[in-house]
Amino acid sequence: MNEKTVSESESEMSRLVLPEDTNSFGNLYGGRLVEWMDNIASITAFKHARSKVVTGSIDSLFFLSPVKLGYIVNIHSRITYVTRSTMEVEITVKSENVETAENKITTRAYFTYVAIDDSGHSIEIPGLKIQGPDEERRYHEGELRNKMRIELLEEARKNLNK
Ligand SMILES: CC(C)(COP(=O)(O)OP(=O)(O)OC[C@H]1O[C@@H](n2cnc3c(N)ncnc32)[C@H](O)[C@@H]1OP(=O)(O)O)[C@@H](O)C(=O)NCCC(=O)NCCS
Repeated sequence: MNEKTVSESESEMSRLVLPEDTNSFGNLYGGRLVEWMDNIASITAFKHARSKVVTGSIDSLFFLSPVKLGYIVNIHSRITYVTRSTMEVEITVKSENVETAENKITTRAYFTYVAIDDSGHSIEIPGLKIQGPDEERRYHEGELRNKMRIELLEEARKNLNK
């Protein structure tokens, strides 16, 4: 199958944090942010696979700084690593103060998507055409994370039967 570049599926979205997105003290809900992250990352996965995709896993997710009501949230997603049917998508979230234009990183996380057919079976996806040392480094790091992910997945499956 043909390879695709990272830039062919790279995606970005911005959201303004509104009152319905925040808790009683004016901070963005973590769950709302995860929903936005899953939305943009799935667009990246759809563009790479051009098939149905489902979210398989979300790696440990740390919220590093709060996002306030009225701030802009800028979310960037790109593929870092692929296997036969899975795509690791790196999502970087920054919050922007509308008055000062100051940008702060809120989180960086890795979501894995699995490409499936109409019956829900995994299918083969295009490989990743790596361009330049940054993409090479990300690919290598993704490969290491994928090894750990498979171990955790196997453990989770075993624990289901306990
Ligand atoms: C993800 C799913 C399609 C995998 O089904 P499966 O029968 O295990 O598929 P396979 O055994 O063919 O595995 C396909 C690939 O996905 C990987 N994989 C399977 N489950 C995974 C998971 N939960 N997270 C990450 N990778 C996963 C496998 O390692 C394999 O990788 P490979 O392409 O490198 O070989 C299935 O578990 C599913 O539909 N889960 C629910 C997804 C969903 O609905 N998400 C939304 C939130 S509920």
